[in-house]
Amino acid sequence: MNRIDTLMARMTLAEKLGQLTMTASGYTVTGPVIAGDSTQSIIDGTIGNLLNMVGAGPAHEMQRLAVEQSRLGIPLLIGLDIVHGHRTLFPIPLAEAGIFDEAVWERTAREAAREGAADGLAMTFAPMLDVSRDPRWGRTAEGPGEDPWLNGRIARAKVRGFQGTDLSSAESLAACAKHFVAYSPVTAGREYAAVDISERTLREVHLPGFVAAIEAGVATLMPAFTDLNGVPMTAHVPLLRDWLRGEMGFDGVIVSDYNAIAELIKHGVAADLVDAAVLALKAGVDIDMMADAYRKGLPVALEQGRVTIDEIDACVRRVLRLKEQLGLFDDPYRRGATPEPAEAVAERHALARDVARRAIVLLKNERRNDRDVLPLPAAAKALAVVGPLADARTEMKGPWWGAGEHEPAVSVLDGLRVALPQTDIRHAPGVAIDGGDDSGIEAAVALCDGASAVLLCLGERATMSGEAASRATPALPGRQQALAEAVTARAHALGIPVVAILFSGRPLVVPWLAEHADALLAAWFLGAEAGHAIADVLTGRASPSGRTPMSWPRAVGQVPIFFGQRPTGRPMNPADYYTSKYQDVDNTPLFAFGHGLTYGRIRYEELQVEPRRVCEQDTLKISVTLRNEGAREAEETVFLFVRAKVSRVTRPLLELKGYAKLRLRPGEAGSVKLELPASELRYLGPDLQPLFEAGEIEICVGPSAEPAGLLRETIELG
Ligand code: GLC
Repeated sequence: MNRIDTLMARMTLAEKLGQLTMTASGYTVTGPVIAGDSTQSIIDGTIGNLLNMVGAGPAHEMQRLAVEQSRLGIPLLIGLDIVHGHRTLFPIPLAEAGIFDEAVWERTAREAAREGAADGLAMTFAPMLDVSRDPRWGRTAEGPGEDPWLNGRIARAKVRGFQGTDLSSAESLAACAKHFVAYSPVTAGREYAAVDISERTLREVHLPGFVAAIEAGVATLMPAFTDLNGVPMTAHVPLLRDWLRGEMGFDGVIVSDYNAIAELIKHGVAADLVDAAVLALKAGVDIDMMADAYRKGLPVALEQGRVTIDEIDACVRRVLRLKEQLGLFDDPYRRGATPEPAEAVAERHALARDVARRAIVLLKNERRNDRDVLPLPAAAKALAVVGPLADARTEMKGPWWGAGEHEPAVSVLDGLRVALPQTDIRHAPGVAIDGGDDSGIEAAVALCDGASAVLLCLGERATMSGEAASRATPALPGRQQALAEAVTARAHALGIPVVAILFSGRPLVVPWLAEHADALLAAWFLGAEAGHAIADVLTGRASPSGRTPMSWPRAVGQVPIFFGQRPTGRPMNPADYYTSKYQDVDNTPLFAFGHGLTYGRIRYEELQVEPRRVCEQDTLKISVTLRNEGAREAEETVFLFVRAKVSRVTRPLLELKGYAKLRLRPGEAGSVKLELPASELRYLGPDLQPLFEAGEIEICVGPSAEPAGLLRETIELG
């Protein structure tokens, strides 16, 4: 008999349920852990998995209890949220999505895995694959932005990065595709609220990222807290058992979200913990995180004949197999056996700075006094650095810092002072991030006098996004708008430019700033090296290349706003009153998906598409010529969209199908080549099955989803 069969034959029910239980370790969670002091439970074999532990020391200490003191010596699976870096924090996932580079997405996951494994961890609760089109929802910060195709690419890259090619390696972690599925369209953008979407939207928008993760071999998956059309995901038999395990053949481990099994009672579908445990087990949830529903509920359910020991054994086998795949039986101390060398950490910080630079999105860059406002003139004598996010190291880490909580981060002020040692860097916060006190505005305004430029550092506190952080008005908090208006008025009266830098976990509704600032950057939350990366871009040491992975609303009333909207029978037409519009706001976003300027001036010249008549086996070859008419080198990101002219169901106005990058020196021209297998032009027909349909398709190429900026060629599908 193999190891798992031998263990299964020997395990008591309590030991089996221990393998289906994950509790927060006593080391990092201040709240009460379900097992009281989990150490005795680990020795008894009634806790088989831990989360929220950091450090090889504590991890190995717990591991020794399980391996050397428990009856069967089954090693622990220890997991943590390693969402955008472990101790060395990279930009938040929403920011990183805007880099549009699979190699970067994979590389940062690999580096985070190395750092997490060195801390004794074997699992991360990432990647988060929740497509979001609603900036009110705080967890937008943790996700891939608004597009399902982009989400699929990120999913593949992250699973490869975290898991590597050998899950048992000392540097690999089991990844966890979460939160399955369609968590982001919560009612009115309110966290944890009910979700009600169509089957078509579920399959076109929210499932593709998870399909990609499963096809990439993701080891585990986490159902969302939310209900979907009335059925809580933690008990969703049609999607967890029938689609995921049945249709997709996913045989990995499903781990519930934190206490989510017990929350089936609050959802109103379970009368008590026994009910809840039965529902989750029947749906195929293997590990109960923090609810203690399986240990308390399943023995009763067994006696009542509501579940069978075979159903429990199937879950236990999946958990034991995961531990075997991770190499935990062969060497439970492999992860964290040797501390990482200092140069590995130094290199990781260099990577964090480079990734942060590339995540910055230059939303606007006007010309003033016959020059682009950015990059700043090298001879800038004095800079007025104003706003509550200028000297805010902790905020730079973003809302989900995990093990990076006590690690340093570089603020904007830190970065500027290092980059511009000869410049007089004057600072005043002006106002707090939130709150009503605006008594500091006057002092901030006074800094403008004698300055070459004003840098306005505005935005959110890190905890204003992330979990449990929806905002009904995702705009500048507190009195920051008043600060922006006062400082801008003074600066413009003095004839000096205003550069506004926004820090947020979401697109912010900032129409005034977009109109009045001379330059505007989205700096999101860039992680450990934020300040250096921002200074690199402001000074021109690095040319901005980031693009926004989400549309920016002009008003929260436009939400959900995204480029992949379906057409309407009455598209906006200024000449016709009875068309789709608002009385008070333009339909278009403030900034379109994919928008982001460089320090070059890129002109799109010629689009070529071959062949023009296409069958499903063909591959489209697309090339576009670009020319940099600017005075600085630039890396351009080119997007490939398609649009079906006629189809049997209404299809999105644009569908993203690819991107490519091209670096061009001033005056240089070059061409970008993209390939598109015609099979990617299938869509879900009226029966929600993939359909390759004859008809005309527009191939659209351009710098963003802004329709006016796209070159278009029509092909014929045969
Ligand atoms: C949280 C989050 C989930 C996370 C888990 C463990 O509540 O919903 O994303 O992985 O609990 O920390």
